[in-house]
Amino acid sequence: MSTNTIDDKRKVTTIRLAQMKANGEKIAMLTAYDYSMAKLIDEAGMDVILVGDSAANVMAGYSSTLPMTLDAMIYHASCVVRAVKRSLVVCDLPFGTYQCDSQRALDSAIRVLKESGAEAVKLEGGEEIIDSIKRIVNAGIPVMGHLGLTPQSINQFGTYNVRAKSEAEAAKLKADALMLQEAGCFAIVLEKIPASLATEVSQMLTIPTIGIGAGSGTDGQVLVMQDMLGINQGFSPKFLRRYAETGEIIKDAVGNYISDVKSVSFPNESEQY
Ligand code: KIV
Repeated sequence: MSTNTIDDKRKVTTIRLAQMKANGEKIAMLTAYDYSMAKLIDEAGMDVILVGDSAANVMAGYSSTLPMTLDAMIYHASCVVRAVKRSLVVCDLPFGTYQCDSQRALDSAIRVLKESGAEAVKLEGGEEIIDSIKRIVNAGIPVMGHLGLTPQSINQFGTYNVRAKSEAEAAKLKADALMLQEAGCFAIVLEKIPASLATEVSQMLTIPTIGIGAGSGTDGQVLVMQDMLGINQGFSPKFLRRYAETGEIIKDAVGNYISDVKSVSFPNESEQY
């Protein structure tokens, strides 16, 4: 076992996350989209694996998350679920599958749970989608909220810059956070907002907050796996810490393989039948 893995095999549930907040224990969340990576991430002791619609960017190469379909999210989530023993698996509802009306939102969430085996869904937004959140929660499906920089609204925002810097936007975010808690969300992602605001919201809520680019005062942190492993090499915002330069390791290994094939040093005698 690697020296940094967590030796706690208990299955993580939404109840456990609430207890972690109550005990002051930070929550670690990371994205995954496929079986092999999800297995490693789960075995390392991750609390929550998010099958994010960031798959649109890091798996499919789109410039925004908008093209992601429900079928594609279900495919990615089912690959992750088959690998996971311990982490709580949360799947994003993609753009256009919950904003129209609460019935459509519930249908989308039910499809995710039935067809992928994920245990919870994440939706972006506050007051505007509160009926959808209530309807999904009332059906017994755990919902994670997402406020601040909500990438599905990029065409309205115009940029991926920090959100809620103005008093008006910060006040709306706080009201939305309370509304999401009241509606039954078990946690809320706070993306790219000032650290002081994220801390205030985290202290105000009884449910856990998970930050990305929101400072250290949230109850947990989330990163996109390809970003923190250095696979998504062109992306280096201020908030991102790179834990490995895996992109370089892969290019080195693949380069060595190519030269071994060309020089006929692979396969050698012990690598053949
Ligand atoms: O889609 C995603 O990966 C996300 C995280 C960045 C929170 O929503």
